[in-house]
Amino acid sequence: MLQFPSDFLWGSATSSHQIEGAATEDGRGWSIWDAHSHTPGRTANNENADVACDHYHRYKEDVQLMADLGLTAYRFSISWSRIQPDGQGAVNPKGIAFYNNLIDELLKHHITPWITLYHWDLPLALQTEKDGWLNPEIADYFAAYAAICFKHFGDRVKHWITLNEPWVVAILGHGEGVFAPGRKSKSEPYQAAHQLLRAHGKAVQLYRKQYQPEQKGKIGISNNCDWREPLTDLQKDKDAATRSLEFFLGWFADPIYLGDYPQVMKDRVGDRLPKLTQEDRALLKGSSDFFGLNHYTTLYASDVNPNAEVQSEVYGNGGIFEDQYVQLTADPNWKMTSMNWAIVPWGCRKLLEWISERYDNPPIYITENGCSLEDKIKDGAIQDTVRKEFIESYLAACHKAIENGVNLQGYFVWSLLDNFEWALGYSKRFGIHYVDYETLERTPKNSALWYKEAIKNSGFEFTQTNTKI
Ligand code: GAL
Repeated sequence: MLQFPSDFLWGSATSSHQIEGAATEDGRGWSIWDAHSHTPGRTANNENADVACDHYHRYKEDVQLMADLGLTAYRFSISWSRIQPDGQGAVNPKGIAFYNNLIDELLKHHITPWITLYHWDLPLALQTEKDGWLNPEIADYFAAYAAICFKHFGDRVKHWITLNEPWVVAILGHGEGVFAPGRKSKSEPYQAAHQLLRAHGKAVQLYRKQYQPEQKGKIGISNNCDWREPLTDLQKDKDAATRSLEFFLGWFADPIYLGDYPQVMKDRVGDRLPKLTQEDRALLKGSSDFFGLNHYTTLYASDVNPNAEVQSEVYGNGGIFEDQYVQLTADPNWKMTSMNWAIVPWGCRKLLEWISERYDNPPIYITENGCSLEDKIKDGAIQDTVRKEFIESYLAACHKAIENGVNLQGYFVWSLLDNFEWALGYSKRFGIHYVDYETLERTPKNSALWYKEAIKNSGFEFTQTNTKI
């Protein structure tokens, strides 16, 4: 039996845009994702999140699903444009009321709310009128919005995440243009990331000064990172793996824990990497009460010779290739999810250990981890064995990391429900509950039933004896 600490947090996560629907109801303004998915060709089958899981109307039913599982925590995000339809100024009382109701419903069922303030759905007006995350003023708009949330919800909400995965906003939103706001550039990702960091810092500063002393909550950020295993024992491949992690996670976590961007980024990105001023650095260093980590997969990393005539094919997604020259590969024996992401639980353990060592053993929460599959409902049941094995083996790897000294305090499965998977629309199912998009009926998958038992026992018998963790 793998036993977890008695105060270990067993959670599940979602985000506003992916589940709420009610896109224009009760005064909500459009976000950049509404505009993006309503632009032909931007999402699979041109799908959008106008209805999504209709969680806005079904939140009570969804909280009941969580209560049935025995979840101790639920991570969700607030739709900024439901609170401030234009991203600044007037507050929409119906938006406040919705989240108040949701929070109260969670507390009624003894489920601790974890709120993400920004999960990619920037109010559209801030994009069209202000240039979104490229504008240095955005940090102040974000802090003002955050203050509204602290003020209205902070009496009951004690766990705040400022931003979800700024790497994705920077690289997929401003580099490759596949996510909103759909921009393609080799320099804007670094500018957007810079403003995202400053926005995080300002919101934390404000919370700490004006709200934390009385509300006594904790505030942090959730960054995403895959593990990078050196392909060989050669020093250059070990360096490539480290470099890849520094460009992925260090980009955001180094300023927050160490006070500046990684040296390797400064050396390689040069003038395209904005400089953190003395003031920015003071704002950022120490600006997270916990380390939020979203983790899904692992790839091998090896060094690429920038002068080679034929460049190796780019695989996986490491960010801007020419800034790093790291080749990413998968082991052909690895099992894959329907996202084509490799299932490598030991990578999760190694990443946790890497974070612990680099950032001086901070309290860590895995704020997302999960698996997409082509689930089919048959006789009212969903036999998602691979997902159950995925969650079980990743949790076993977490357990081993804790044994090895990592200060891991909780785990949130992505996701509570099948939902709108961004540019991939409804084609990928990550939920531990199946959603029938015709009827919007929810059904627990077998993985949810397994998770329920694990939560009840604060642990589980690890049955996959041949799986390396
Ligand atoms: C994360 C993201 C989630 C979800 C998940 C699965 O990057 O925060 O919103 O989409 O990936 O792709």
